[in-house]
Formats: sequence, structure tokens, C-alpha cells
Amino acid sequence: MSKLRVGVVGVGGIARTHMPGWAASEHAEVVAGSDVSQEALNRWGQEHDVKKLHTDPEALFSDSDIDVIDVCTPSTYHAPLSIAALEAGKHVICEKPLAPTPDEIHRMIEARDRSGKMLMTAQHFRFQGSSKAMKAEIDTGALGDIYHARSWMLRRAAAPTGGGFILKEHSGGGPCIDIGVHILDLTLWFMGNPEPVAVTGVARAELAHREGAFSQWGRNAIPPQFDVEDFAAAFVRFDNGATLVIEVSWLLHHDTQGEDMQMWLYGTGAGAHWPKCELYESNYETRQQYNRQLKLMYDGLEAHAQECVEFAQALAEGQPSPVPAEQSLQVLKILDGIYRSQQSGGEIRFD
Ligand SMILES: NC(=O)c1ccc[n+]([C@@H]2O[C@H](COP(=O)([O-])OP(=O)(O)OC[C@H]3O[C@@H](n4cnc5c(N)ncnc54)[C@H](O)[C@@H]3O)[C@@H](O)[C@H]2O)c1
Repeated sequence: MSKLRVGVVGVGGIARTHMPGWAASEHAEVVAGSDVSQEALNRWGQEHDVKKLHTDPEALFSDSDIDVIDVCTPSTYHAPLSIAALEAGKHVICEKPLAPTPDEIHRMIEARDRSGKMLMTAQHFRFQGSSKAMKAEIDTGALGDIYHARSWMLRRAAAPTGGGFILKEHSGGGPCIDIGVHILDLTLWFMGNPEPVAVTGVARAELAHREGAFSQWGRNAIPPQFDVEDFAAAFVRFDNGATLVIEVSWLLHHDTQGEDMQMWLYGTGAGAHWPKCELYESNYETRQQYNRQLKLMYDGLEAHAQECVEFAQALAEGQPSPVPAEQSLQVLKILDGIYRSQQSGGEIRFD
């Protein structure tokens, strides 16, 4: 079978992390790129020896030589670009969040179903060795029914300072969307993707606008245009009775250098911690407790690259999308619910 031919739209920071995956894939190769910045496009084209370069993404969508579009632009452009690509008959892998709102994801799913093409969200944390090991163990039934989870992704003075992240018009939101989408996607996947029924949450900017607010990335000042939250937290209920507490922040007076990303899962059979990949079990006959360490399932590639390899492999083998859009819809339903709960001051119900 000939290789799938990939066009990358938005050739900035995250697109660079996909390139080793496309290079390693036996099923795909990058042949084109598009970006609103001609300068970024020329630099990227030279670095990766890609000749087809267009500032208008439509040129990639209408190119019958291209099979796959890799959407790597700021988040508010994900839905329009993905829908246009699907409607032009391309398979789409799209960066996280799949889109900032559930309505947009509904429309992406409709476009996918009309086209019969594949749509995958690039949730790279699922492709790490620690995540694969934990998911495989959970799939054996070792945790029993997971009835509660605690997840957080907390940064101390570590906010992005670029407009693509800190201006709502480009990002759709702050850390709730930007990093909440990572830890929430992973938690729901481990929990078996139960359907969320209610969320109570807060999403506030507490530190971003104080005098001298800075990000440790280059000790940059937080730009005054910052118009998103810097902290969010929520309590979520699911249709199977399970519950979740989640906390995210880019700026928090928390005991960490950089980032503290953790998850605790509590099941009827065992508890577990990610990314430690440890299980907490009890023998009810001997009344002993013990901890069990899982072996990581590392595939040899960095996770952003591995997700591209597995996307192309799924297409080549006729398998379903490794990260289905329906699961991203659940994630965005919750994150959008947190923003709505902040506005209303109460619980948001989805049923
Ligand atoms: N999975 C991860 O770990 C991870 C990490 C960082 C960013 N991201 C996601 O990747 C996306 C891009 O982030 P980034 O860090 O690469 O940003 P970036 O600013 O480094 O790159 C974005 C690129 O898109 C271009 N662009 C902007 N609007 C465009 C449009 N309408 N059409 C075509 N090109 C356009 C910009 O010129 C820029 O070159 C965001 O959605 C972000 O949430 C994911």
C-alpha cells in the first residue's frame, strides 16, 4: 500500500513534535504545509524539506494528492479547519482541545460521519508508556468499579504568554481548556468514559492580573491582555454513580517546580496512582495491604510522535480512531460546564 500523504496546517511549536512521528511511520509521509505566517511556513518547509507550502489551507484541502490533514493551529480554528478538511474528503488528526466548545465538536462529528473519514484528537498523554500500562491493567478488571477519581495538573508561575493561549478569541479559555483537557481526557479514559451528568466548578483569574505577575518561562511578565482564567476546579458526577474532583492552574502558589500532574483512581478492587503506575490492593482473608508496581509499556517514541504513528497505523489497518471524537465531546462537555457553573454559581446538569 502506498503511503498516506499528510498536509500540516499551523506549523508552530506543536507541529514540530508531530514530525518525528510522521517520519517514523511506515504508513505516512508529510508532503505539504500551511500557515498564516509565510515566514513560519518557509522556515518549517526548509527544516523538513517540504516543498508544497501555502498560506491558504484551502490549497491543501483541494489537493487530491493529500490524504490526511494534521490540524496544529490555535484552538479556536480547529473546528472550521477540520470540518473543511473532512468535507474535502481528508482524514483529520487535530490537536487538543478538539474544539473549545461541545457545539463545535458536534458539528465535527457530523462532518466526519458525512465524509466517512477518520477524525482523531491528538491527546498525546494516552500514548505514554505509563498511560498504556495503567489502561492495560484497568482493562484486566484489577481496579473493579472505579467509583471516585482525583486529578490535577498544577503549575507554579508557569503560564504561556503567547496570544494563542492567553486570548480567549484564539484559545477558547485558559488552563481549564489548555491543560484540563489533558488530565481530564486521561482520567475519563481510565474510568471507562462514563457519561458526565453534572458539574459544579469554578474558573477564575486570581494571580494573572496582580502587579508583577510573571511566568517562569523566561521570567516573562503576564501580558495585560490576558483575558482567560488562571485556575479552575470542579466536582463531576457520572451516569454510573462515579465522581471526580479535578483542579488545574497555570499560576498557583503550589509546591512544585514546573508542573505537578497526578491522578488517583479508587475502585472496588484496588486504588491506583498515575503516573507512578502503582496499585493499592488488600487481601480481605489475611487482612493485608500491599502495593504493586506496574511495568511501563514504552514504544520507543516520544508520545506526540507515537500518536501520529498510531493514527496512520489505524488508517492502514482499517481500525477505529485511536482517540474518538465522542470521547473528546465528553471532555469538552465537562470543561464547558465548569465555565457555565462559574457564571451561574451553581450546578450544571447535562441530562
Ligand atoms: N498536545 C500538546 O502537548 C500541546 C502542547 C502545546 C500546544 N498544543 C495545541 O496545539 C495548538 C497550537 O499550539 P502551538 O503551541 O503549536 O502554537 P504556536 O503559536 O507555536 O503555533 C501555531 C501556528 O499556527 C499558525 N496559525 C494561527 N492561526 C492559523 C490559521 N487560522 N490557519 C493556519 N495557521 C494558523 C501560527 O502562525 C503558528 O505558526 C493549540 O491548539 C494547542 O492547544 C498541544
